Amino acid sequence: MKVPVLVFGNRKGGVGKTTNSVMTAYELAKMGYKTLVCDLDPQSSATNLLSRTYARQKNPNKNDYIRELVCKAKEKGEIFTQEVAKKKIAEDYPKLEKKNLHIKKTMMLALSEKDIASTIVKVRKNLFLLPSDDDFVDYPDFLEQIFPSNVDNFKEKRIAYFGEQFKTIKDDYDFVVIDVPPTLSIYTDSAIYIADDVIVALQTQQDSFDGAIKFYDYMQKMFNKYNSLDFNVLGVLPVILHKGAGLDNQILEDAKNNFGNDAVFDTVITYMERIKRYGRLGIADKEAEFGGGKDRYDKAAHQIYHKLAKEIIQRLEEGNKE
Ligand SMILES: Nc1ncnc2c1ncn2[C@@H]1O[C@H](COP(=O)(O)OP(=O)(O)O)[C@@H](O)[C@H]1O
Ligand SMILES: [Mg+2]
Repeated sequence: MKVPVLVFGNRKGGVGKTTNSVMTAYELAKMGYKTLVCDLDPQSSATNLLSRTYARQKNPNKNDYIRELVCKAKEKGEIFTQEVAKKKIAEDYPKLEKKNLHIKKTMMLALSEKDIASTIVKVRKNLFLLPSDDDFVDYPDFLEQIFPSNVDNFKEKRIAYFGEQFKTIKDDYDFVVIDVPPTLSIYTDSAIYIADDVIVALQTQQDSFDGAIKFYDYMQKMFNKYNSLDFNVLGVLPVILHKGAGLDNQILEDAKNNFGNDAVFDTVITYMERIKRYGRLGIADKEAEFGGGKDRYDKAAHQIYHKLAKEIIQRLEEGNKE
């Protein structure tokens, strides 16, 4: 089967591209699909979010730490007093070795060595990351050097370079999700060049709506310009919707009128404090070793992305039938 390569796009920043890319990939991985997140943004937001998620899920916080000690003491029939707990927190807890997502090699270096497989890291079961790093800002310069403007068709060669490398790893996965920066740039173009399915992220605010339309037009232009492009627009996904807000619902209606009823996803990603918090602290998941994730807000956050992942698969299947 062909490996779907998904890109969440919008020409505006702060509309939830990274959050939705990562949460969708996370949920696909939980459903058993081997999923790769490619971070094509030199700001490394997806890499940071997944690094925080790894740290959160692999390291005990103070409560987890004491809970474990209490359990062990109980097993041995020992008494664990408040004093002991305080002492352990003050003296031993800070000394615990912290597990962090270890990035072996930067993607910029790996791209120049034509060996991107060497930079991929495992975040959790079925979830992998092709990480971005600060030196990825040098990517446009690197491409200009190897394809100077006197080379035939240099623009397309630059845009296609990532895809050439990407081919060597793609088939190892069931799904690939690419996170892109908001600016139209060689990064976004490189992603669109290899995308199979684009999801337009639409925050229900006017400037995001304009950003979605501009992104849509831009994709169309690229499609007309390069013969090898072959992507579907899988749909327009309403994100960060404020429930019950008149303007939000109006923009949702405008989107249906503009893009067509069927184009707009049934799943709507509402505004959730918990999702915002995942951005700062990493994703919590009750199935992980540490890091909480057991209350109803976590449950709701995962449920909404589970629904989205299912709708994405359904839309892909419908697309294959046509
Ligand atoms: N459904 C949501 N509910 C609440 N906050 C959200 C939601 N989706 C994203 N955010 C927050 O909105 C901000 C911008 O999201 P981000 O994914 O970084 O956007 P982009 O990648 O388009 O710049 C972040 O602080 C993120 O935590
Ligand atoms: Mg982002």
